[in-house]
Amino acid sequence: MSARLVVAVDGPAAAGKGTLARALAAALDLPYLDTGLLYRAVGRRALDAGLPPSGDASGQARALQPADLLRRDLRTPEVDRAASLVASQPSVRAALLAFQRGFGASHGAVLDGRDIGTVVFPDAPVKLFVTASLRARAERRWRQLHDATGLDPAAQSAAIDAVQAELQARDAADAARQAAPLRAAADAVWIDSDRLDAGAVLREALRIVEARIAEARAAETA
Ligand code: C5P
Repeated sequence: MSARLVVAVDGPAAAGKGTLARALAAALDLPYLDTGLLYRAVGRRALDAGLPPSGDASGQARALQPADLLRRDLRTPEVDRAASLVASQPSVRAALLAFQRGFGASHGAVLDGRDIGTVVFPDAPVKLFVTASLRARAERRWRQLHDATGLDPAAQSAAIDAVQAELQARDAADAARQAAPLRAAADAVWIDSDRLDAGAVLREALRIVEARIAEARAAETA
């Protein structure tokens, strides 16, 4: 089973999904796919094409090329918003589904996103839902985006407040949309990364993966 193991890692923005999923893939020797990058690349293309915010971006999704995923401008606040907007369109999601499924189907994979355990791989044997408090996530995202050098504490706190408001709005939109909303699968195991560093989150995830594999083996031989 581990030869084709699919591990679904879902959760809200900046919860540490990407860090965990990448480390997990390396530890398990599986390919890794950051599915948020697909929506970011479609959002980027929609911005470049001058589409209005809720314009149909399915053409951009169908035309996606590998080089689009290598662009260096996919993690700006503008692209955060555009990605979330295009991700609410069922036709965009449909255009990206086969690629995501194909990626994990033959050799297994670790995929992170919002709907991996609910829609993309609903039968994945391991599903993790990674969360952290809104403040911890905002601080994490702010550190990724900005250099704190020279900022006084009040300015830093105000800047984190602004990032927090953006994250909260994006999570609310991702959770409220009709098409594949952000939510934990019923059989997902939750990991709260608030008080855990990346190493501890990885150890916890590996423990869960091993337990699930052992359960699946026991069920096969029963
Ligand atoms: O994970 P990341 O923050 O890069 O994702 C950007 C946006 O892409 C999310 O806010 C969400 O709207 C969308 N997304 C999605 N489904 C996924 C992955 C990302 O809707 N599986």
